[in-house]
Amino acid sequence: MKSSQQELIVGLDIGSTKVCVVVGRQGEDGIEIIGVGQSQSHGLKNGMIVNIESTAAAIRRAVNEAELMAGCEVNNVVVGIADKFIYGQNSLGVVRVKHGEVTEQDIHRVIESAQAVPLPPNREILHIIPREFIIDEQNEISHPLGMTCSRLEVKLHLVTAASTSIKNITKACHLAGLEASSIVLQSIASAEAVLMTDERELGVALIDIGGGTTDIAVISNNALWHTAEISMAGNHLTGDLAVGMRILINEAESIKRAHGCCQKSMVDKDEQVGITTTGHNSGRQLSRQTMAMILQARAEELFSLIDRELHRSGHSGELVAGAVITGGTSLLSGMEELAERTLNMPVRIGRSTNVRGLADMVSQPIYSTGVGLVLYGAKNAHVPKKPKPRINTGELMRIIAEVQRVLKEFF
Ligand SMILES: Nc1ncnc2c1ncn2[C@@H]1O[C@H](COP(=O)(O)OP(=O)(O)OP(=O)(O)O)[C@@H](O)[C@H]1O
Ligand SMILES: [Mg+2]
Repeated sequence: MKSSQQELIVGLDIGSTKVCVVVGRQGEDGIEIIGVGQSQSHGLKNGMIVNIESTAAAIRRAVNEAELMAGCEVNNVVVGIADKFIYGQNSLGVVRVKHGEVTEQDIHRVIESAQAVPLPPNREILHIIPREFIIDEQNEISHPLGMTCSRLEVKLHLVTAASTSIKNITKACHLAGLEASSIVLQSIASAEAVLMTDERELGVALIDIGGGTTDIAVISNNALWHTAEISMAGNHLTGDLAVGMRILINEAESIKRAHGCCQKSMVDKDEQVGITTTGHNSGRQLSRQTMAMILQARAEELFSLIDRELHRSGHSGELVAGAVITGGTSLLSGMEELAERTLNMPVRIGRSTNVRGLADMVSQPIYSTGVGLVLYGAKNAHVPKKPKPRINTGELMRIIAEVQRVLKEFF
């Protein structure tokens, strides 16, 4: 029997190398993954849609596969976004508390006041993430509702995206017959899937190294402080290997996955690897150490950019739990060791472990964003996109009078 869309939460990760659809279902003891679909990505460059029709076709292929596996029809998706025009900034809002006690309306007003920052043209706010509230002089308040004070402040993280990127993602979903119920920054989704509560509390950097982009999120005290994206990832490693070893991109890709290592000290200098694909390179022997030197040089360059970004966040000194790397490129042999050495902090590979169902399958780091989108969707299902305006007393009296008039007419 087909499950209805209402009980499903579907994550759509439009990555630079693959489009992936993860179908989850809210159960009594957490999220159960019941379907996964994947197709080769087309129409994207460095995480950005450059051809809507090809992207939509790739989305449709991945959705068909996921529908088949899950035995359900997918209509709504929580979709990820990442491109070089995503921009995160911190902001502060202040309001006077009118009745001496913080109401829901005060919280909405203070969050709204923090959004009053000048935005460059053609940008939209994607996420408003409160980090802490301050009542009078007391800071680090997470739930100010009902507290007594005269002044309420909020510190929050705003993530903005280019309007065109948001429109293109929505349009590609429509063309594929889907409704994008929300658009979520990919690094926020990956963090949702792979970080542990202690890490979020102590301070951690989430680094998702995919094919075209590396997404970073800095989280400390359970709050998001910094988000950034670097347009360098696994495809650059493959490209360097192809040029350096004079082989084709598809040969470089499969050799990188099967025999690549980004720490030359971990590789025996006499080890040779034969090319197994057909073509004029077939049977050629390549030095694994030379390949490791090429991969190490690029991986070190990438991690120096990541390190710079972490320093720019102003919170690099607080990353007590170190860094968690995920995404397909985190699987490259030697990556964890190289990351520890270059960032000078403890590093682990992040996998989604807090879901049931097809848990083994989605624990692969390439699925972190897709699973995270499902978890994010489940967690935020009740949150309205924009705070609803409250009805004032005059409005309420008018509604009551109208109801009384209608009742009189009938009785
Ligand atoms: N076992 C492996 N060893 C090394 N690299 C790998 C391995 N498996 C996948 N990769 C690399 O991971 C990258 C793809 O990762 P992922 O699926 O997370 O990217 P994506 O989500 O499609 O792209 P992006 O997040 O950049 O938009 C590719 O560059 C691929 O070569
Ligand atoms: Mg990705």
